[in-house]
Amino acid sequence: MTRVAVIGAGPSGLAVLRAFQSAAKKKAKIPEVVCFEKQSDWGGLWNYTWRTGLDEHGEPVHGSMYRYLWSNGPKECLEFADYTFEEHFGKAIPSYPPRAVLWDYIKGRVEKAKVRKWVRFSTPVRMVEWDKKKKVFNVTVHDRVKDKMYTEQFDNVVVASGHFSTPQVPEFPGIKTFGGRVMHAHDFRDALEFKGKHVLIVGRSYSAEDIGSQCWKYGAASVTATYRSKPMGFTWPKNFEERPLLQKLDGKIATFKDGSTKEVDAIILCTGYQHHFPFLPEDLRLKTANRLWPLDLYRGVFWEGNPKLSYIGMQDQFYTFNMFDAQAWYVRDQIMGRIKLPKADVMKKDSKAWRKREEKLEDAEQMIWFQGDYVKQLIDATDYPTFDIEAVNKTFMTWEHDKAADIMGYRNKSYRSLMTGNMQPAHHTPWLEAMDDSLEAFMKVK
Ligand SMILES: Cc1cc2nc3c(=O)[nH]c(=O)nc-3n(C[C@H](O)[C@H](O)[C@H](O)COP(=O)(O)OP(=O)(O)OC[C@H]3O[C@@H](n4cnc5c(N)ncnc54)[C@H](O)[C@@H]3O)c2cc1C
Ligand SMILES: NC(=O)c1ccc[n+]([C@@H]2O[C@H](COP(=O)([O-])OP(=O)(O)OC[C@H]3O[C@@H](n4cnc5c(N)ncnc54)[C@H](OP(=O)(O)O)[C@@H]3O)[C@@H](O)[C@H]2O)c1
Repeated sequence: MTRVAVIGAGPSGLAVLRAFQSAAKKKAKIPEVVCFEKQSDWGGLWNYTWRTGLDEHGEPVHGSMYRYLWSNGPKECLEFADYTFEEHFGKAIPSYPPRAVLWDYIKGRVEKAKVRKWVRFSTPVRMVEWDKKKKVFNVTVHDRVKDKMYTEQFDNVVVASGHFSTPQVPEFPGIKTFGGRVMHAHDFRDALEFKGKHVLIVGRSYSAEDIGSQCWKYGAASVTATYRSKPMGFTWPKNFEERPLLQKLDGKIATFKDGSTKEVDAIILCTGYQHHFPFLPEDLRLKTANRLWPLDLYRGVFWEGNPKLSYIGMQDQFYTFNMFDAQAWYVRDQIMGRIKLPKADVMKKDSKAWRKREEKLEDAEQMIWFQGDYVKQLIDATDYPTFDIEAVNKTFMTWEHDKAADIMGYRNKSYRSLMTGNMQPAHHTPWLEAMDDSLEAFMKVK
């Protein structure tokens, strides 16, 4: 029997499990699927941990999520086409849920599919090697509960280990002797730590925008965001400003590229993440920056050097959960022989054409249409329930405009579900006043 190893039980890995389970439900003969997950529960980044640094087994902590994190895009853009929010919660819910609500939703689908038995938890993958003679992968894992390492053979491997976990950490002159707290966004857990403090945020992307906003919301004395390429450009509230790149630190005094200075108490480096696969050898390892079209992946998933290896969710992400689904269904169908891959040179040519198009993208709107086209290409080829990609793109556009109009208020908006057609309700409390991020508070469950 064909054996498939899935590395990681976050949204990407769980999409693969659900894809195979849905085929089995339609009476198809599916391979044996084994998912290895380093954490003790599923949900990937959405499974919040208070830990930073190393976990209870001495493994690097995967989690980069923090308390009070609310979705930064409308849930209508990430909704599963085969399991709606309304099915999960029994009613329509507001468009920007906090982390716990999204985690609950992700879990609901795979609990319903009864695939937990396919996952071996607390089991990090240590090495994947291709046996040229036998044409199988040797996958070596470490069961951290039994403290036992073992190797099994698989016909296919799907890498779904995420890429927002290993921080990219630049150094600035004087940071070694800075007289306050320095951390990367990966280790940020609770904005209340910065109440009353002057916070310096390095970066200009989603972590910078959201962690800066969190610190401001929970009472930081001031937030200064310092950018390398260009400012975020939102109309920030009082005591929130943007400055060109940090040049040096003298004690607690930060000097910026325009020569201005500011005394700060803490520095949060929102400087992004590395694609990091310590369990993959040179010939199988994806090397890329965080971008919409990483090279060497045919259709954004198959490792061109050996398509028995595939990657899910390695792109920079506007689309998330339903893009992982589109990829997972596509990979499933190739593994099950329903989709045939072209020759290596054709795959390379196809990838390069997408990359060429990606390189010409000028703004977020164009990037969203690009990723929408990609998702559409995949879902058109499988039995994943089709959905209106153009309408999702348009919801993303409205989100962009709502955000530009009011960075601290855009989460008060609500949108129509593109899966059920129903308008979603407004949240009972404006985001800036909603301090409790629990599922119970969000759903107003007593
Ligand atoms: C701070 C933050 C906030 C975000 N907010 C949003 C949001 O609001 N909306 C949105 O749509 N997206 C958001 N994202 C994007 C996020 O990437 C996706 O939502 C999603 O979590 C990606 O799923 P994944 O399964 O690819 O990766 P992950 O969620 O990272 O899951 C990967 C899994 O692989 C496991 N793993 C890693 N290495 C190994 C190994 N060697 N062996 C076994 N298991 C391993 C990990 O433990 C983890 O469970 C956010 C990302 C970050 C960092
Ligand atoms: N609430 C939420 O839902 C939420 C919150 C946080 C993050 N996220 C998600 O998390 C993911 C990762 O976002 P991210 O912002 O961490 O990473 P990112 O989008 O990859 O952005 C990395 C940022 O780091 C900056 N940077 C890198 N090296 C630098 C250096 N040496 N000096 C100065 N700046 C440097 C980049 O600047 P340049 O642009 O100038 O190159 C860029 O702004 C995204 O998918 C995002 O949606 C979501």
